[in-house]
Amino acid sequence: MKTISIESIDSTNTYLKKLKTPTEDTVIIAKKQTGGRGTKGRSFICEEGGVYMSLLRLYPCKAENSFSIMMNSAVAVVKTLSAFDIKAKIKWPNDVIVNGKKICGILIENVFEGEYVSRSIVGIGLNVNNPIADEIKDIAISTKEVLGKEISVETVTATLIYNLYQPTTYEEYKKHLLYLGEEVTVITQKSTYKALIDDIMPNGNLKTSEGEILSSAEITIRK
Ligand code: BTN
Repeated sequence: MKTISIESIDSTNTYLKKLKTPTEDTVIIAKKQTGGRGTKGRSFICEEGGVYMSLLRLYPCKAENSFSIMMNSAVAVVKTLSAFDIKAKIKWPNDVIVNGKKICGILIENVFEGEYVSRSIVGIGLNVNNPIADEIKDIAISTKEVLGKEISVETVTATLIYNLYQPTTYEEYKKHLLYLGEEVTVITQKSTYKALIDDIMPNGNLKTSEGEILSSAEITIRK
């Protein structure tokens, strides 16, 4: 695996997306990002002191199993935090939450070729020692705030990369998931309504108690 460490970059995901013909898995780690990207076209604030990294994996799985990449990355973050005595949960599909606030965001960008995911870019932004901007203080948290002390960003990053290569099961993902069996607010482009989460299916879709099947590409949930 190739590792690139850099002081500052617009976005580690964008860097890996631009690689023409990568021949091995590549990880890029930045101290800060000037144009961090989030899911659904949103931006992601990246102040120095956090972990901002992206991992490019070549042929990680078959196309039909692409949700395993989301499960694997979210569980890898939960395990990493647990190594630092922080209990984290997953908010479907793959936000990582501590004490009701988001500690980590994950942006996955896949390229499909026939039956396979030929390239997967897993971008992870984890709040470690970085300050949390005032405007997101109610919804975001860092390990520093949870532990009351700084921890080594390098050790967190190394633990995370190790965990990203460990296999994960659907059962393990579900074990860490928030809101299973609970009522949530479902937000679509056109409406907002309440629904009871019955299950998460192996392909990553959410099933409500009414039997409705919802995809994370189309909806967001909140408590
Ligand atoms: C989200 O919560 O919406 C996902 C945020 C993902 C942020 C990470 S930081 C490293 C990588 N590079 C990016 O531009 N985004 C991801």
